Amino acid sequence: MSAGIYIDNSPVFTGHISELLPVWLRSKDFSSIFVLSDNNTNRLCYSYLQKSLEEYAPVHAFVIEPGEHRKNLETCSLIWSEMKNAGLDRKSLIVNLGGGVIGDMGGFCAAAWKRGVEFIQIPTTLLAMTDAAIGGKTGIDFDGIKNTIGVIKQPAAVFIDPVFLKTLPDRELRSGMAEVLKHAAISGELSSGWVDALVQFESSGPDWIEILTRSVSVKTDIVREDPDEKGIRMLLNMGHTIGHAIESTFLNTSQPLTHGEAIAVGMICESHIAQSHNIAVPDMDLLSRYLLKIYDLPRITDGTTEKLWALMLQDKKNASGNVRITLPDAPRSMQILNISRSDLDDSIAYYNSLI
Ligand SMILES: NC(=O)c1ccc[n+]([C@@H]2O[C@H](COP(=O)([O-])OP(=O)(O)OC[C@H]3O[C@@H](n4cnc5c(N)ncnc54)[C@H](O)[C@@H]3O)[C@@H](O)[C@H]2O)c1
Ligand SMILES: [Zn+2]
Repeated sequence: MSAGIYIDNSPVFTGHISELLPVWLRSKDFSSIFVLSDNNTNRLCYSYLQKSLEEYAPVHAFVIEPGEHRKNLETCSLIWSEMKNAGLDRKSLIVNLGGGVIGDMGGFCAAAWKRGVEFIQIPTTLLAMTDAAIGGKTGIDFDGIKNTIGVIKQPAAVFIDPVFLKTLPDRELRSGMAEVLKHAAISGELSSGWVDALVQFESSGPDWIEILTRSVSVKTDIVREDPDEKGIRMLLNMGHTIGHAIESTFLNTSQPLTHGEAIAVGMICESHIAQSHNIAVPDMDLLSRYLLKIYDLPRITDGTTEKLWALMLQDKKNASGNVRITLPDAPRSMQILNISRSDLDDSIAYYNSLI
């Protein structure tokens, strides 16, 4: 069995789930298994692991509707009722099979059930493989605010298998690429061959195992060093201060953006702000070029900037009333900047000039 990369005692395995999962299960002693999936991942992904699970212990599968709007307390309540009906005890295992919505919510439900049962993450989107499933952040949206309720709890294991990407819609696949490029920017790997292969990829597909192994190791290294986000883990927020505001602003329009598209705009704008404060983000021009190649990004109108700033003032990453961005100034080295409304305006003008 491949050794996996560890965060505390939690391994992250990259490879064939059909081989890795049975071996890992045999080293454990679970009484039963509860599989949480959504309609899509149940239909398209479950067959890759169903036999391994059923040969190991009694399995209870629960399927919910897909979508961020389901990541809330009402759905948790349904999941906990189903766990009760299934008779789960503290030696049961929860298997979260899906994108970030399933992983975040299933992890949270597992962490709270009987004060915590073990769970594994089997991410099926590129975004979840490279980001959401790793690092132990679990949670749900509450009162219209994203990820307000949650806990940090490391999964018992994470299994990353690119086989699931075969059925992922193209726009979802591209959405995850922004996080992969973010990891490459943070670790100074933007000019590496594997990043070029990702950006150039056509239907034949790049070497996903290499891309995922590289990208995941950037996140695991950072989480291991700073699990509670007191320092270097903040670097993973690159592009997300402006990006989250962009994502929220476009959410209720006729053209909502994916998370990756919004973060792409955020990374271009924030890198430009850094530069105007004499902080050079390594390979910033290459990063912008790659992002503009992957995504068909919208122009940002003047009226939108006002809304963006109002949202950024609410950002939970702010400190002492300042709007903050975090950017790399060298591989795995971070600068934190307080930014002003005029920084935002200038960066949007710069971004629009590239579109
Ligand atoms: N915990 C963290 O550290 C962290 C980090 C980043 C994002 N997130 C969270 O992740 C969520 C977004 O995750 P996401 O982008 O994976 O979205 P998602 O879970 O909603 O999945 C996107 C869509 O793809 C479908 N799908 C998933 N896998 C598929 C497959 N293999 N084939 C076909 N369809 C498939 C899903 O059913 C869904 O419709 C957000 O809620 C965000 O807050 C969490
Ligand atoms: Zn993100």
